[in-house]
Amino acid sequence: MNIKSLLLLTILFKNCVSLKILALYPNVMISHYLVFEPLFHELANRGHNVTIVSSFQKEQNYPNIRFIDVNDGNKKPHEMLPMNFFNGGRISKYFELYQLARTGLEICNAYKNSKNIKSFLEENNKYDLIIVELFNTYCHFGVLKQNKAVNIGLSSTDMLPWMNQWFGNPENPSYIPTLFLDYNDEMTFLQRVENTLMWAYSKFIHEYWIAQVGNEFSKKHLGVDLYEGGDALYNISLLLLNRHFTYHTPRPLSPNVIEVGGIHIKKPKPLPGNLAKIVEGSPNGVIFMSMGSTLKGSSFPEAQRKMFIKVFSVLKQTVIWKWEDEMKDLPKNVLTQKWIPQLDMLCHPNVKLFITQGGLLSTQEAVHCGVPMLMLPQFADQHYNAAALKKTGAIALKLRTTNEEELLNSIKKLLTAESANNAKELAQLFNDRPMSPMDTAIYWIEYVAKYKGAPFMRTKVTDLSYYQYLLLDVIGFLLLIVAAGAYLLLTILKLVKKLLFKKSVAKLKKQ
Ligand SMILES: *[C@@H]1O[C@H](CO)[C@@H](O)[C@H](O)[C@H]1NC(C)=O
Ligand SMILES: *[C@@H]1O[C@H](CO)[C@@H](O)[C@H](O)[C@H]1NC(C)=O
Repeated sequence: MNIKSLLLLTILFKNCVSLKILALYPNVMISHYLVFEPLFHELANRGHNVTIVSSFQKEQNYPNIRFIDVNDGNKKPHEMLPMNFFNGGRISKYFELYQLARTGLEICNAYKNSKNIKSFLEENNKYDLIIVELFNTYCHFGVLKQNKAVNIGLSSTDMLPWMNQWFGNPENPSYIPTLFLDYNDEMTFLQRVENTLMWAYSKFIHEYWIAQVGNEFSKKHLGVDLYEGGDALYNISLLLLNRHFTYHTPRPLSPNVIEVGGIHIKKPKPLPGNLAKIVEGSPNGVIFMSMGSTLKGSSFPEAQRKMFIKVFSVLKQTVIWKWEDEMKDLPKNVLTQKWIPQLDMLCHPNVKLFITQGGLLSTQEAVHCGVPMLMLPQFADQHYNAAALKKTGAIALKLRTTNEEELLNSIKKLLTAESANNAKELAQLFNDRPMSPMDTAIYWIEYVAKYKGAPFMRTKVTDLSYYQYLLLDVIGFLLLIVAAGAYLLLTILKLVKKLLFKKSVAKLKKQ
């Protein structure tokens, strides 16, 4: 066979193989789903047969996609959280992590009560690939064990501390910041102490409140022990990770962990008529403010809201604030909107500043469009994102303790040409890749399918025990040799000394 026909064959192979894919994405937080929704669409567009298990009904009539609603036994709207839910204190971060584990159980209940899931599991379909979300719950992992499919993990956030072990990913807290804190890779001694404690604490929470609880659920309701005959989590071939080293702190990743940060970003569209008119009709540019999709914007603390309005009123720019209710005391350069097409807005060249809670999707969109950011982190990974972005010129303020002067100065600094240039430079770095994040994801998914899970991408560390990984046995062994050597040397010295002493004594006696 010559090269040409081989090439033709590979092209044919590429275009012909339609994979049967199951995507398990039971998370009830829509932002987590929105990250990878375009990936499911793209897999279907490329001719793969995709079944999606999720609580978001958006895929019902998409060609090549079958949708299983996991939420049929648990119907209730996903409410936005009020902002006073998070007080922003240091200690509350430890409690928040425990809370995260508990909300994972909500997903288990949806699973348990769902008739759709029950009848779907009874179909006993076989798949080539199973794609699962890795986050705060184990309740859907039983399916991995029952199928002999190749498994792929998705993470809509940066690496959670407990995911590293499954992929043999380096995770030294001496320089790798933990997602639940507000540090980047420039940590003082005490910050490294806290980073290490949080890293260990989150692994502890995972072990007792996510893994064990999840396995009990799996045994009881799916009849699958996740650990019997090999840990299901250690059999995931590939992790697609929503991060990118240009704005997140750079860190080493195993070959089977692939950065696809920005995968949800599509080509921006022109703004709708009324918004376009406002944005284009603002000679000094626009400041866009939004606290994201999870927090209820109108639960913004009242005193701070007044302060923001006051500071906005002295600016020349138009301020557009995403706010669900009405605001009465608006100065004439400030207006509110219930809903704004965020990416289209951010990529409009007349938008000069983004005031954001620092959610990952919002942050990535602003990075992509090259807009300077004023960040007001509230919970989850927002503090962590803000800490990372600070290194690229963003400013992060503590919403509850900042004052008028600090707010105004920060906004003024972010509106300078220097800040605009920083943001444009970061956008260039973020967007400069050999393949788009979507093509990267599809490439690696088809790659692990083609090579039956590509076990050769796995580093050996996943098979080592902790004492081997930490080299405790090697260090112990070397210490033993040094000790034995030292003992031997000492004994010889003593012997020599004794002999010499005896000789000299004998000599003295002779004289
Ligand atoms: C996709 O898979 C489902 C479930 O296994 C099957 O019922 C359906 O016919 C398949 N669709 C296509 C287009 O192959
Ligand atoms: C692990 O995954 C491979 C495919 O990558 C599959 O063939 C195998 O059955 C799985 N093993 C277990 C114990 O689930």
